[in-house]
Amino acid sequence: MTRLFDARVEPAAVAFAAEVIRQGGLVAFPTETVYGLGAHALDPDAVARVFSAKQRLLNDPLIVHVGFADGDPDCIAALEHQGILGALTDHQEGMARKLARAFWPGPLTLVLPRGDRIPPIVTAGQDTVAVRMPNHPIALDLLRRSGVPIAAPSANRFGHVSPTTAQHVLDDLAGRIDVVLDGGPTPIGIESTVLDLTRTPPVILRPGGLIRAAIEAVIGPLPDRPVNADGFLAAGDARPQPSPGLLSRHYAPRAELRVARTTAELIETRRALMSRGLKVGLLITGSQEAECAGLTPVFTLGRDLESVARNLYAGLRAMDSAGVDVILVSEVEAQGIGEAISDRLKRGSRGGPASTG
Ligand code: TXA
Ligand code: MG
Repeated sequence: MTRLFDARVEPAAVAFAAEVIRQGGLVAFPTETVYGLGAHALDPDAVARVFSAKQRLLNDPLIVHVGFADGDPDCIAALEHQGILGALTDHQEGMARKLARAFWPGPLTLVLPRGDRIPPIVTAGQDTVAVRMPNHPIALDLLRRSGVPIAAPSANRFGHVSPTTAQHVLDDLAGRIDVVLDGGPTPIGIESTVLDLTRTPPVILRPGGLIRAAIEAVIGPLPDRPVNADGFLAAGDARPQPSPGLLSRHYAPRAELRVARTTAELIETRRALMSRGLKVGLLITGSQEAECAGLTPVFTLGRDLESVARNLYAGLRAMDSAGVDVILVSEVEAQGIGEAISDRLKRGSRGGPASTG
């Protein structure tokens, strides 16, 4: 049975959920990006339950979420000391300290050498671990009260889009997890930026809620992501692929997602698909509302890119609920948070083997 609590009005719920985590159970909780499905990161049996609840392949590593490390202002050193991170080179340590000071808690995940207390199942056997400190009062309260690092992927079924509300979590995982902490809709709406500091130079493996320019302002220019024409991390890297989810179809609604270059193309493609008997839904921005008036079903994502990021996954899920065959959306300029939005639209719309979640 899955127990749902509104953590905004039931303060005792977080203490209860923290005990569930300590006992090896599964708790879905809000972060500033998307909802996570958390388990005690140092307990391999608990982590195994995350993979089976999500039906996620064991070769896709999880992010370890950490809270403030005993009030230590230098949390990177504390994480090394706790055996969550392994021995960092001076260069890695320098970058990680600056980035953690600038952006933690926040939507930045750092890939660093794995510490010996992190069981291999968390990192899919790799010698690196992804860590982040989420910027959400309920997530931080859960981490502080449980007193352990929490391994958490997004709280959706394998291959599906990430949840941005507690209802999305229940739609995917009701009956498969112990607790859902409702903290309302997540403010950023798109996953964290994953930055690999074990590569030289560092590489953004997944664009996300923290924009590239902010990272570059702290550690200097980053190379472009080594991507192929479809926007997936390019093969040809000598190392094993770091994240199976970065390579193939991911973040996908059930309906087919298509990205149009212009509003005119969006409307024309809709007409052509409907003439073939297909049911078509539109995801539009505020500035497209006038041109798309009367074309239903339609979901307005918002006026600025921040709103588009916040509402994108809810829009994709709404179209799936409406039972459309094809979802049409206009392309977004890959600048600022647009880099992450554009990445998710590409992954959701291109074929390839369905992969992680
Ligand atoms: O915003 C977020 O990051 C959310 C919230 C819950 O924190 N979490 C999230 O987790 O999106 P997940 O599991 O859906 O995505 C984690 C990504 C995957 O692409 C995974 O392959 C990558 O991080 N990753 C995890 N550990 C890694 C590692 N050691 N090396 C490279 N990539 C790693
Ligand atoms: Mg995910």
